[in-house]
Amino acid sequence: MTKSIWIKHAAQLATLTSEIKGPRSKEAMSELGLIEDGSLWIENGLIQAVGTTKEIEERYAEKLHTADVVDASNHLVTPGLVDPHTHVVYGGSREREFEMRLEGATYMDIMNAGGGIHATTRMTREATEEELIEQTTHRLDSFLAHGVTTVEGKSGYGMNLETELKQLRVMKKLQEKHAIDIVPTFMGAHAVPPEFKEKEDEFVDYLIDEMLPVVAKEQLAEFNDVFCEKGVFTPEQSDRILEAGKRFGFTPKIHADEIAPYGGAELAAKAGAISAEHLLKASDEGIRAMAKAGTIACLLPATALYLREEAAAGRKMIDAGVAVAISTDCNPGSSPTTSMPLVMNLACILMRLTPAEALTAATYNAACAINRQEKVGSLEVGKQADIVLWNVKNYQELQYLFGVNHVKSVWKKGVQVVS
Ligand code: NIG
Ligand code: FE
Repeated sequence: MTKSIWIKHAAQLATLTSEIKGPRSKEAMSELGLIEDGSLWIENGLIQAVGTTKEIEERYAEKLHTADVVDASNHLVTPGLVDPHTHVVYGGSREREFEMRLEGATYMDIMNAGGGIHATTRMTREATEEELIEQTTHRLDSFLAHGVTTVEGKSGYGMNLETELKQLRVMKKLQEKHAIDIVPTFMGAHAVPPEFKEKEDEFVDYLIDEMLPVVAKEQLAEFNDVFCEKGVFTPEQSDRILEAGKRFGFTPKIHADEIAPYGGAELAAKAGAISAEHLLKASDEGIRAMAKAGTIACLLPATALYLREEAAAGRKMIDAGVAVAISTDCNPGSSPTTSMPLVMNLACILMRLTPAEALTAATYNAACAINRQEKVGSLEVGKQADIVLWNVKNYQELQYLFGVNHVKSVWKKGVQVVS
């Protein structure tokens, strides 16, 4: 048995508990379950008790001397952040494209000329599993250093069976090796690879007949994602891919309406996707359909900033009853960052989320977007002790002092991984 941990005197403990079970929208996104002079008792990697310092002190009076004590006076304490959308496993990097875009090329110009996702696909196909593990480990370390204790990870830089499997196996190995939790998503439909140029439907057949069954058999992913975008996969092709995935037990996700309005939000609602991602150009009808279907909007304001596009209508979506989560979209093209704190700041600045909503979007709702709300995303008895101690005293200050990493300490399953 490991030593107990007693965190005491937190200036503000944001537990993120609520009466509402499942993804939160509207007013529920502002319920942070705040406790002043808050305290946590942790044993065997799990949260055993949550309350005020006085309550925990009384309840564990006999055992206090046996615990590692953390004095959180003057500090905010929150659940570990959850990043529900990343492309964290990839080979190489694309800094030259950053310059090209500043010189006037668009994201789609670069991709259509064989760069973008195609460039990373070439580099990922060439990389060995060991090289991918090494590169990805650095990024996961950086996530932890920014207070992120759970990430989703997508394949999609293979677009052939061999490399898609390689990416997913890298995630599986890192799940065993690295402190962070990685939740895997199959995204073979990230683009149409050059060998299928102008034979998009044949690629869709290949993905459905040759890739999905193997990924399912090897149990390498929980979700199935598709880039539904003008010039990539049509809503009809996307629908086929998601429906086929469902037959293999994969829950649908969808990159929707990122670059152009294309009916992606509507499709997400219709397909019963757990979440729709990006949504910069989502229609009002699509937003209404998502609210009705309970589809989570996973919004990526760092991507909008990086592509110099107007961010998604986060405020409008919350007001319309859509549960909003936020994410880095960590990838080598449209958002090369691991900073969820920056993403929370940008959610406030660019999408007019309140500081409280941004924290919910980066914790509890983010956990819901990857079906991990029973384990992480809030500080409740029985959940994993994934905890961040911040160098600020309240949640408003966390969002107000922007672009800075305020992390002081991080615990993952009760083990201190950042100090
Ligand atoms: O979510 N939009 C598609 N996929 C990624 C970008 C991938 C890349 O550029 O390598 C995204 O933005
Ligand atoms: Fe993405």
